[in-house]
Amino acid sequence: MFADDYNKISHEYETSWFNGEATTSQEIIKFLSPYAKGTVLDIGSGTGFLLDYIDIHSDHYLGIDPSEGMTKMLKLKHPNHKVLISTVKEQQIETFDLVVALHGSADYLTKEEILSAAKSPNCFLMFCRPTTIAICHSEKIREHIYNNVDWRFLLSTFLHVFTSKDGYVIATNIEGAIKCLS
Ligand SMILES: C[S@@+](CC[C@H](N)C(=O)[O-])C[C@H]1O[C@@H](n2cnc3c(N)ncnc32)[C@H](O)[C@@H]1O
Repeated sequence: MFADDYNKISHEYETSWFNGEATTSQEIIKFLSPYAKGTVLDIGSGTGFLLDYIDIHSDHYLGIDPSEGMTKMLKLKHPNHKVLISTVKEQQIETFDLVVALHGSADYLTKEEILSAAKSPNCFLMFCRPTTIAICHSEKIREHIYNNVDWRFLLSTFLHVFTSKDGYVIATNIEGAIKCLS
């Protein structure tokens, strides 16, 4: 269902999303850059935001996204980078040095999916803001997020909790992510 919604908006996704939010995106990427070493799993890879800003060798990258439309846009820009058109639930997740779910992608993950992604990776990052709650989220999920996430700060043992000026951006490790979903 979510994949279908994203299929419909995949062509406009980048222009609509970046409108007025470029500064925040750049801040996020600046923050993330030092951690993008080794192998990277990009959950909800979308149209390739991460790859657009951080130079990750195709041998070290795996995207995973159930939306064929969004993935097609990513592949136009980054033809050598591998993306599985799938959800985490349907895959065996191997070890990655870094696992990210950027700009609301993590909002779509179930606790089981996060746990499965976190079997062996060193850390898990999640970036969410009220403004990134997409309209295609179900009421149930939206309600769950609002009721369970402390938008100001998630409890986190990750090195930094990063907040932006124009909203909330949360960087956390797996413990923080699980806390907000349990
Ligand atoms: C708001 S977009 C973010 C895309 C990209 N990470 C970015 O920063 O621009 C959310 C993405 O999550 C994907 N998504 C939805 N459900 C998912 C799931 N269960 N597992 C992984 N990705 C999912 C959507 O297809 C969409 O491409």
